[in-house]
Amino acid sequence: MRIVCVGGGPGGLYFAGLMKKTDPRHHVRVIERNRPDDTFGFGVVFSDATMAGIAAADSEAFRGIGRHLVHWDDIEVNYRGERITSTGHGFSGMSRHTLLRVLQEQACAAGVDVLFERDVASLDAFADADLVVAADGANSTVRHLLRDRVQTTIDLRANRFVWLGTTKPFPAFTFYFKRDDHGLWRVHAYQYAPGRSTFIVECREDTWRAAGLERAAEEDTAAFLERLFAEELDGHRLMTNRSIWRQFPTIRTEPWSSDRVVLLGDAAHTAHFSVGSGTRMAMEDAVALRDALAEHDEIAAALRAYEARRRPQVESLQRAAQASLQWFEDTERYTTLTPIQFTFSLLTRSLRITHEDLRARDPKFLERVDAFVAREAEQQSGAAVGGTPPPMFTPFRLRTLVLTNRVIVSPMCQYLAEDGTIGDWHLVHLGSRALGGAGLVMAEMTDVSREARISPWCAGLYKPEHAAAWKRVVDFVHRETPAAIGVQLGHAGRKGATQRLWEGDNEPLAEGGWPLISASPIPYFADRSVVPREMTRADMDCAVADFARAAGLARDAGFDLLEIHMAHGYLLASFISPLTNTRTDEYGGTLANRMRLPLEVFDACRKVWPDEKPMSVRISAVDWAPGGMEPNDAVEVARLLKAHGCDVVDVSAGQTVADQQPVYGRLFQTPFADRIRHEVGIKTMAVGNISSYMDVNTIIAAGRADLCVLARAHLFDPYWTRHAAWMLGYPLPWPDPYKSMERYTPRFEFRFTGDKS
Ligand SMILES: Cc1cc2nc3c(=O)[nH]c(=O)nc-3n(C[C@H](O)[C@H](O)[C@H](O)COP(=O)(O)OP(=O)(O)OC[C@H]3O[C@@H](n4cnc5c(N)ncnc54)[C@H](O)[C@@H]3O)c2cc1C
Ligand SMILES: Cc1cc2nc3c(=O)[nH]c(=O)nc-3n(C[C@H](O)[C@H](O)[C@H](O)COP(=O)(O)O)c2cc1C
Repeated sequence: MRIVCVGGGPGGLYFAGLMKKTDPRHHVRVIERNRPDDTFGFGVVFSDATMAGIAAADSEAFRGIGRHLVHWDDIEVNYRGERITSTGHGFSGMSRHTLLRVLQEQACAAGVDVLFERDVASLDAFADADLVVAADGANSTVRHLLRDRVQTTIDLRANRFVWLGTTKPFPAFTFYFKRDDHGLWRVHAYQYAPGRSTFIVECREDTWRAAGLERAAEEDTAAFLERLFAEELDGHRLMTNRSIWRQFPTIRTEPWSSDRVVLLGDAAHTAHFSVGSGTRMAMEDAVALRDALAEHDEIAAALRAYEARRRPQVESLQRAAQASLQWFEDTERYTTLTPIQFTFSLLTRSLRITHEDLRARDPKFLERVDAFVAREAEQQSGAAVGGTPPPMFTPFRLRTLVLTNRVIVSPMCQYLAEDGTIGDWHLVHLGSRALGGAGLVMAEMTDVSREARISPWCAGLYKPEHAAAWKRVVDFVHRETPAAIGVQLGHAGRKGATQRLWEGDNEPLAEGGWPLISASPIPYFADRSVVPREMTRADMDCAVADFARAAGLARDAGFDLLEIHMAHGYLLASFISPLTNTRTDEYGGTLANRMRLPLEVFDACRKVWPDEKPMSVRISAVDWAPGGMEPNDAVEVARLLKAHGCDVVDVSAGQTVADQQPVYGRLFQTPFADRIRHEVGIKTMAVGNISSYMDVNTIIAAGRADLCVLARAHLFDPYWTRHAAWMLGYPLPWPDPYKSMERYTPRFEFRFTGDKS
């Protein structure tokens, strides 16, 4: 096969060498615009796992690279005058220059034809090649030449960064966070060769501008940063090598090939340097492309197989990199955290490392984190915390309510009530989840009037007998379990008079429906939903009174917490979102206007609801639709709620409009709770795809939310919290009739054979 690699970076050189080693009959040529010794930057990082991958693919390359690695296990975080070290991370640094030299030598020794100082500006010269590999980096010329066939998105991130070197030999992967008059500076530093370290400095754009670095030449940048980090550099100088300030471009392309041209490495995708994976991804691409070509006779099939194998891995890493770069863009937000929690937040930023991973890597560090969370919880709740429980098993106070742990059963409609009256199903459903160990069990969206229901089978609190039915459940939970129980009051608005979830989500009833009201007369499904009537002031008075009456009934039933549903496109949410509120009166337009009715409802409920009991509000932090609510709007919503005495915001998202485009994923809504918690200084609940106890412990310990709300995980396993306790070795007491469990060891045999991908 005749192969041309455009670009002699790590990706192109490694691929060329691999192909030639696999079959010496291949004719492989690398064309590189620079000279052999030119390279930007200083060092690259490999994790131990990456090196294991290289060892499996190409033992010669592994040996060649391995000789030059500087290995370290520690990550050191310098913040607010404290140095916190965590160990067990297993990374190696290497000079980019040396890496390229090793790969060049190995490629040449294998018989690859490497041409330097040739700039590729068109593909015309490669008409006779069977395969052209575009390994020409982030600014790929080949990708540009293919622009009609390959779609590229470049997300240029806001922070500024510069890649420098220093002679200071950092013994650990070192982070500095340092404030000066201009703002907060972040440094990512690691040793890549004896007496040589990479020193990347990153900051917000306003900090960079305030420091006058916009027009700084390389020497000015180095001089400024040497002064700023004089203490940290300890007499060592900074070195430049095309050290210009840049913004990181996250590059995504689709597809990765066209005809016989294929993209590899940075040309196809990039991942922020804070996850140190760009070189690794390029080299993993090279292995995957080599394997695909070996497995398929036809080039087109091989290129499809290469992309099918690599794309999910690359996208997963890009998601982690996205979370990581956001943490560094938002670091200012976390500077109220104490050094130990700040470090934990930093280490777990990309969601790849959890609380449990850190137990394996560095149990002593984790012990410090857990002790911090426990002492903070003790102070916050006023409840004694014996020893150092896992973060999820620490208490939490909301007014006089002290929850025994941080796990909440999310409100989930059951569609099994009769004219709003709940029955045995609810007793068993909520009762068993309370027995299952959660600190707080939330009853489903419970409607404030008959017309406020989502469906004819929804639970209500609009008749005295409703309170009596709920009281039976509340009393059971209080009598038999340590759990608290809350209720979510709602009004369906334009999403009313629909079928049950399992019969047709948001689908209008075929018969037996009723007139709907909403902020504006916009139906949920344009083609089939009932058009709601735009609410008049009289309708609003009625709704406020209904909510207040329901709050009184909830009080009579003995609930511990009252939540107002202002999310998911229901009545109050329809006022908040500009997509569903097009009013021109004082209830539409600005966010303050759109929040007017929801806040009136909140205030009316707060008046009726006992002072000593807490109130929460569920919001949709984003609408996932153009022109809709965005996370910064949600921050303002939370600010208003806080000003009105809301104790905790339950941060959900979406379900406002039928054509939403949500970005799902593990913990996909947690960043909104995190942002609101820190920017508004209000307690938050995180919800959405939280399913493992590792994630709950991580969220609580990092301070991303105060409480974790799990819905489907609790349908799957009502004893979710008990099982988490068992896995963590935490002695959660069993109810008396189940005491024999204390001498029982379950033998789990968990074989997963279902495909839920
Ligand atoms: C500040 C910073 C820090 C980083 N830190 C790390 C890290 O710690 N660890 C890590 O793994 N990665 C890191 N990276 C990323 C890493 O450098 C890249 O992801 C990696 O080099 C990608 O390899 P590549 O072969 O795809 O592309 P490149 O290394 O960019 O190689 C492309 C090559 O193609 C050549 N070329 C381009 N156009 C043409 C043309 N038209 N004709 C001929 N030749 C051409 C270029 O000269 C270059 O040599 C960092 C990147 C930055 C910006
Ligand atoms: C069966 C079911 C019923 C639900 N009913 C409600 C509800 O009454 N009120 C509400 O705010 N959210 C409701 N939701 C949404 C959940 O409370 C939760 O926000 C969502 O399922 C995401 O959490 P999860 O990933 O843990 O399931 C419901 C979800 C399910 C699966």
